[in-house]
Amino acid sequence: MYYPDELVEEVREKNDIVDVISGYVRLKKQGSNYFGLCPFHNEKSPSFSVSQSKQMFHCFGCGAGGNVFTFVMQYENYTFPEAVANLAERAGVALPEVSYDEEARKKENRRARILELNKAAAKFYYFMLRSPQGAGGMEYLKNRALSDETMNRFGLGCSSRYSDELLKYLRKQGYSDELMREAGLVNYDEKNGLYDKFWNRVMFPIQDINHRVIGFGGRVMGDGKPKYLNSPETVVFDKSRNLYGLNHARTSRKNHMILCEGYMDVIAMHQAGFTEAVASLGTAFTSGQASLLKRYAKEVLLTYDSDEAGTKAALRAIPIIKEAGLTARVIHLEPYKDPDEFIKNMGAEAFQKRIEEAENSFFFEIRVLQKNYRMDDPASQTEFYRAIAEKLCGFQEELERENYLAAVAREFMIQPEQLRKMVISYAARMGGIPETVRPKPTADRKKAQEDAGRTSQKLLLTWLVDEPEIYPIVRKYVTPQDFTVELYQKTAERLFADMDRGSPNPAAIISMFTEEEEQREVAGLFNTKLNELSDNSEKERALQDIIYRVKQAGYEYYNERTGTDADAIAEALERKRALEELRKVHISLKPGSE
Ligand code: UTP
Ligand code: MN
Repeated sequence: MYYPDELVEEVREKNDIVDVISGYVRLKKQGSNYFGLCPFHNEKSPSFSVSQSKQMFHCFGCGAGGNVFTFVMQYENYTFPEAVANLAERAGVALPEVSYDEEARKKENRRARILELNKAAAKFYYFMLRSPQGAGGMEYLKNRALSDETMNRFGLGCSSRYSDELLKYLRKQGYSDELMREAGLVNYDEKNGLYDKFWNRVMFPIQDINHRVIGFGGRVMGDGKPKYLNSPETVVFDKSRNLYGLNHARTSRKNHMILCEGYMDVIAMHQAGFTEAVASLGTAFTSGQASLLKRYAKEVLLTYDSDEAGTKAALRAIPIIKEAGLTARVIHLEPYKDPDEFIKNMGAEAFQKRIEEAENSFFFEIRVLQKNYRMDDPASQTEFYRAIAEKLCGFQEELERENYLAAVAREFMIQPEQLRKMVISYAARMGGIPETVRPKPTADRKKAQEDAGRTSQKLLLTWLVDEPEIYPIVRKYVTPQDFTVELYQKTAERLFADMDRGSPNPAAIISMFTEEEEQREVAGLFNTKLNELSDNSEKERALQDIIYRVKQAGYEYYNERTGTDADAIAEALERKRALEELRKVHISLKPGSE
C-alpha cells in the first residue's frame, strides 16, 4: 500500500461520490439514489446508479461498480495511487511523499527510471521526425497517408541516421549506459562498443493503458530487413500483457475490440474512426492479452492479414479468445492484404460494412479446414464431415452444439441426421458421449453448487450493508471463515469488524483493494439484487435460508480441503454440528426476542 489507510479514508470521505461523478455524468435523483447513463458502456436508458448513503456506484447494465476511487480509476485510466493523489488534490488534502520499504523502493525506482528514460527517448524521436533531419521519415509517413494529427496522437517519431545519436543525447541528459542497455535502447558488442538499437527507422512508441512508453517498434523506410525492429522485454515491457493502441481503444466504449496484426493497421484504423483497434506486439496473441481485452469488450473481431500466415495466426488466436470467455468473429479484407490497405483503397464506410459482415469464428475455422479436403472425392468428403463432427464436440452445451450443427449442415449441405450420428460416434470413440445421452458430469454439478454457495455469500453481504440491524443475528451463526472465496473472506472480516465497532462503511472496504477488478467485485458484493420481502416472517425465513446456505457452502468447501489429522477432523465435526443446529433454530427479527 502506498498511503496509510486513514489518509486514503480521509480523501474518500472528503470527496462525495455524487459530487465527483456529477462532474462526468448527468445524474438525476430518483428515490434515494441518483441515476444516469453509464459512462462505461453504450446505453440509451439509465442503468447507472450512485448511492449517496453508501458512497458507491453500480451499473445494472454492465456490472461496473465501486467507490469514488474506482470511478476515477476507470474513467481517467488512473492507477489506485494516482486516483488517491488526484482526489486528494481536489479536496485539498495534503499527501506525504510515497513511502516504500527499501527493496520495493529500489525496484520501483528502477521501473520509474526506465519509464522516464523511455519517455526521453520518445521525445528525442518525436522531435527528430519534426526536424529537418527527419524529412525522410516524414515523407515516408505522409506517403502512407497519415495525417499530422494521427502522427501526434500516436507520438510517432524517427531515429537518427547515425547509430549513436540517441546514446550521446541520453548521456548528456545524465542517464547511465547501464540503464540504457537495460531499457533495450542501446546494444553492445565487442567490435562496435555501445550503439543505438534503432537508427534510420520511423519509430512507434508502445504505450501501456496509462499512456506510459514501455517500448518501441521501428520500421525501415523502404524494403530493408528486418522490416520491424522491436524493443526487447524489460522490467516495464511485458509483451504478453500489453496491446498496441489499447491506451486509446479502452475508452472507445464499443461492445467489441478489433484485433489486428500490425502497428500500421492500428493507426490506419484509428485514423478512419475505428478507435477500438489494437494489435499484439510483434508476437503471437496470448491469454494475458485476451483477459486484458475482456475488461473492455465482450467480442473480439479479428482482422489478420488475408495471407496464409495471417490465417494461421487467426486460427491460433480464436481458441485463446474463446477460452477467455469472449466471442470471436473474423473480418474479411479480400481482395486486400490488411486493414491498412483496405481502408486506403475502400474507405471507412466499406470497412464498417466488413465489420458488420464479420464471420462467426466457428465457420471460419471450418472453411479453412475444408481447404485440406477434396469435395469431389467421396472418401475425402467424408473425412471432412468427420472433422466437422469432431469440432462440434467442442461445444459442451447441447443447445449450442445443436444450433451449430444445424447451421453447418445447412451451409455445407450435409444431412443433419448424418452429422449428428457422426458426432455421437466420435464422442463415443473419445470416451465421452455428448450430454444428449450422458448424465451431467459431476464436475458441473459441483460447480453449480459452488456458484450457489457464492451467491448466498454475496446476498448476505449485501443484506448486511443494507440493513445493519440483522448483524447481531448473523454474527451468532456466521464467521468470516465461512466465506469460501478469499476476496469475500477479506471483505467479510473487515465488514464484521466495522459492525462490531458500530457502523459499516462499505465504501471504505472497497479501498482496501487497489486493483480496479477487485474493487468492482467487492462493490458487486454489496450490490446484489435482494428480493423485496413484504413481511417479517418472510424475511426471517429468507435470512435463515441464506445463513444456512452460507454455512453449508463453507462446510462443504473446507471439508473437501482440510486434511485428516485430528484437529481437522474435529473442526469438520464442529462445522457439521453447527450446520445441523442451524436447521433447528428459529430466527427472529423482532427486537428483544433473541
Ligand atoms: P506485417 O509485415 O504485416 O506488417 O507485420 P504491417 O503492419 O503490414 O507493416 P507495413 O504495413 O508493411 O508497415 C505485422 C506486425 O508484425 C511485427 C510488427 O509488430 C508488425 O506490425 N513484425 C513484422 C515484426 O516485429 N518484425 C518484422 O520484421 C515484421
Ligand atoms: Mn501493412
